[in-house]
Amino acid sequence: MSQLVVVDGDIVDVEEAHVSVLDRANLFGDGLYEVIRCYSGCLFELATHVSRILEGAKALGILHDWTSESVELAARRLQAETGIMEGEMYIQLSRGPAVRTHYFPKIQSPTMFITLSPVRPIPEGARTVGTSVITCPDMRHGWCHLKTVNLLSNCLAKEKAARHGVWEGLMLRGLDRSALPRTVEEYCDVPGELSGARPGDDVAGWVTEGASANLFVVKDRRIATPPACNILPGVTRRIALELAELAGLDAEERPVAAKELLTADEVFLTSTIGEIMPVVNIDGHLVGAGEPGPITKRLAEMYTDRVASAVCQ
Ligand code: PDD
Repeated sequence: MSQLVVVDGDIVDVEEAHVSVLDRANLFGDGLYEVIRCYSGCLFELATHVSRILEGAKALGILHDWTSESVELAARRLQAETGIMEGEMYIQLSRGPAVRTHYFPKIQSPTMFITLSPVRPIPEGARTVGTSVITCPDMRHGWCHLKTVNLLSNCLAKEKAARHGVWEGLMLRGLDRSALPRTVEEYCDVPGELSGARPGDDVAGWVTEGASANLFVVKDRRIATPPACNILPGVTRRIALELAELAGLDAEERPVAAKELLTADEVFLTSTIGEIMPVVNIDGHLVGAGEPGPITKRLAEMYTDRVASAVCQ
């Protein structure tokens, strides 16, 4: 069956869909994206994702004629025309094609395209028995609050995780080291930053987030997640904080030291695709008892209920 996509507002077959090689997303990573989960034909938190990409465009000075209504309409039309009920939608908005010069073109003709595909596979049992992660240096630029298509460092972290047989790379800043690895091999071969450490050791640095997920730690029933600077303020992260409040749990946004990962009772990741995913092993260290903890399980159940009630509307 052919795949339909939206390009600049028109629904076309993917074979007919063309974006210029001179598009600045292609040349400079000068673009933004969103990933939206489609559950039973319902685009979960569509308005929030659309608002994030339009806010990002404003922050980056990408000039376009899209409104939240017109993007939402295009997204819903694509879902209806493809008939895909369980999927992940991708929206990309870039500054568009221009002769290759670094500064912004005087006249911008932005590119927007939308795809809807089957949801990427999550490892068996990841949400029920928990998942393992590896830590790595966060080599990203300073504007991680914008969901830009500059994802090379995120790809490196994910590649490292895959080469070590785990699900996610957790990124650390402020590491006590003079030089960063210079090749993929060097980057991936190094074991996790905490692998030689013991609980109580004075490890340098702090954790920002995963390659494609936000991070939460729980200690003595208090939940913490890094503040929304130098991380992507995730839609799922915000929902998790709301759910924690609804459940009467103590949750705060504050810098999380790398060494806290060694003594946390529970750790979990949040993302549109992974939802609320327990982490049970970090760099070979068990988190708590090595199984999903009660607070993570409670929030994950509440998240499932939140999705179910959104889908029924
Ligand atoms: N990524 N942090 C990063 C670096 C991410 O790339 C993502 C999501 C998140 C979680 O954000 P949200 O809850 O809004 O999905 C946090 C998407 C899913 C991706 O790149 O595929």
